[in-house]
Amino acid sequence: MIMSLAACSGASGDSAGSGDGGLVGVAMPTKSSERWIQDGNAVKKQLEEQGFKVDLQYAEDDIPTQVSQIENMITKGAEALIVASIDGTTLTSVLQEAADNDIPVIAYDRLIRDTENVDYYATFDNFKVGQQQAWSLLNGLGLTELDGTAIAGAPAGPFNVELFAGSPDDNNATFFFNGAMDVLQPLIDDKTLVVKSTQTDFNTVATLRWDGETAQKRMENILTSTYSDGSKVNAILSPYDGISRGIISALTDAGYSVGAEWPIISGQDAELDSVKAIVSGEQYATIFKDTRKLAEVAVNMTVALLNGETPEINNTTDYDNGKKVVDSYLLDSAIVVKDNITEQLVDSGYWTQAEIDG
Ligand code: BGC
Repeated sequence: MIMSLAACSGASGDSAGSGDGGLVGVAMPTKSSERWIQDGNAVKKQLEEQGFKVDLQYAEDDIPTQVSQIENMITKGAEALIVASIDGTTLTSVLQEAADNDIPVIAYDRLIRDTENVDYYATFDNFKVGQQQAWSLLNGLGLTELDGTAIAGAPAGPFNVELFAGSPDDNNATFFFNGAMDVLQPLIDDKTLVVKSTQTDFNTVATLRWDGETAQKRMENILTSTYSDGSKVNAILSPYDGISRGIISALTDAGYSVGAEWPIISGQDAELDSVKAIVSGEQYATIFKDTRKLAEVAVNMTVALLNGETPEINNTTDYDNGKKVVDSYLLDSAIVVKDNITEQLVDSGYWTQAEIDG
């Protein structure tokens, strides 16, 4: 898939040098999460291999910082911008400046909203990521296979489940939550799953800036308000590994320990600490999104645009940013559980066995 994409955009890995030595600005949200460091490094490396100079900036989740970083990139003469936004709705005026200077803009992983001035969107199938998170929970509870197929003779439940969503200003958070609820809602309706806290509304379960400590506090509150009667939470939908780590801390502090009564917890991003937590049994699953492939899609889009070619896309319907439907390329993600860590993460070279064991 990536090969054909590369061929189409005239930017295959072995045709290094199709860049003209110009500058590409790459704006990333934060270094506090490992995945964005991997993304930034992968985009920079691949652009440099194509002959570009790269201005890579991280904004530590501060919106005005990200806006001024992008302004600086424009001032420095960037030929194109690749942007993973913090808040997808706050870049409208700076991207108008980019458009006024004929600078193409690629939204990286997160859709940039409320502007005409985003040319293409490189991401994963975010609704599917949410479904995979839910399937991983159901798999851990013994209800389905990892692809959501029902297991014959599965336990009837009911299972107590709690729900967490990502940052409400990140377009992806809604996609993940809607994908997960597409899978979970029928089981909530037929009472196989019970959200004992009754907190099911997106805005109630959302976690501003995907912050692990915010999630930890909410989990602590839920354990106190809902589970101090001796009942146990059996599964927790978590949209991101950093949130899962906060949830794990809350459970540990409340006296849960890994073993029969430890809940099934999902995640996302295959962050190293969370892969270790899967090995130790604290986290059940994560969703692996290969940042190297995402970088390749974004770089190929950039090179194609700068060469006056049309980037390859595979979705023209799903990502309406409030002003237009942005042409997108969606990659596939994979569920990682203890049994397939080697196959998914080590064999693909994402983490070494030594890193996971270390
Ligand atoms: C990304 C996820 C990530 C989350 C928190 C989302 O926009 O798609 O991969 O877990 O942000 O950084």
